[in-house]
Amino acid sequence: MKVVTTLAELIDVRAVLPSPFGLVPTMGFLHQGHLSLVRRARAECASVGVTIYVNPTQFGANDDSNNYPRDFDRDLSLLEAEGVDLVWAPNDEDMYPPDFQTWVEVEALTRALEGIHRPGHFRGVTTIVAKLFNATQPNKAYFGQKDAQQAVVIRRMVQDLNFPLKVVVCSTVRESDGLAMSSRNSHLDPQQREAATVLYRALTAATQAFDAGERNAEVLRNIMSEVLLTEPLARPQYVSVADPDTLAELTGTVECALLSMAVYVGKTRLIDNMVVENKGKGIRD
Ligand code: PAJ
Repeated sequence: MKVVTTLAELIDVRAVLPSPFGLVPTMGFLHQGHLSLVRRARAECASVGVTIYVNPTQFGANDDSNNYPRDFDRDLSLLEAEGVDLVWAPNDEDMYPPDFQTWVEVEALTRALEGIHRPGHFRGVTTIVAKLFNATQPNKAYFGQKDAQQAVVIRRMVQDLNFPLKVVVCSTVRESDGLAMSSRNSHLDPQQREAATVLYRALTAATQAFDAGERNAEVLRNIMSEVLLTEPLARPQYVSVADPDTLAELTGTVECALLSMAVYVGKTRLIDNMVVENKGKGIRD
């Protein structure tokens, strides 16, 4: 496994890796969710690269990138064990030199859901992901359904800007009690960690109602909100039933929906989602 930092080293190492080359962009502090993407890439590609970069431009004023958890040595040993060929941990000087002034912005899709509460977040994400794609030239790039809106936004960017690669979205990996794995879970104390399962419980309650025939968007939203209310440590920021493709909020009868939410537990902001669909209506990609 080659570990590189500078853009110049990256380009040399990448040049001799066989195609198809699969890329897994991450911010490090890896868990089984990240590793599931790496395994999928390993199974589908001749060579696999992972980037580790805590991208400062996707963090907000109340969400400092300096507080993001890091353990580079542990990340490297996990990736070595997965048979990764290349790890690129770019530095800020290469990614954002002082005269940097070019941004990639996906419009309408980033004005919904997370975009409402994290202004500028997706502009940071699409800009860094475009830079990582340009530098590493992947044939396939792997993202998690855990960040459902991010996956939709990146698919849009790849189509709109003609990046010659396939975006692969992998299912959310959960702890045994349902909590979606996230690097941010490490900020939770034991009591908060227990409370954090409420996101999964709320999503499961709405999914079960949908499967039992409930099709009304407001009712599905209320089911989630009511479960969240039972947890005194949880402070919901939004609860959404949205179109999985346009991310527009839905009203009335729904046949297919992205159920999603952002919830504060203490100072930690957690997000989670599930997609429901009328099985009789044909399976979505
Ligand atoms: P990060 O939060 O490190 O996540 C890296 C990738 O792992 C993302 O595609 C994310 O959706 C996926 N992932 C995280 N938790 C997961 C889980 N429990 N199950 C499955 N996949 C999971 O997302 C980012 O970094 C950044 O925004 C990035 C794309 C790297 C750009 O900076």
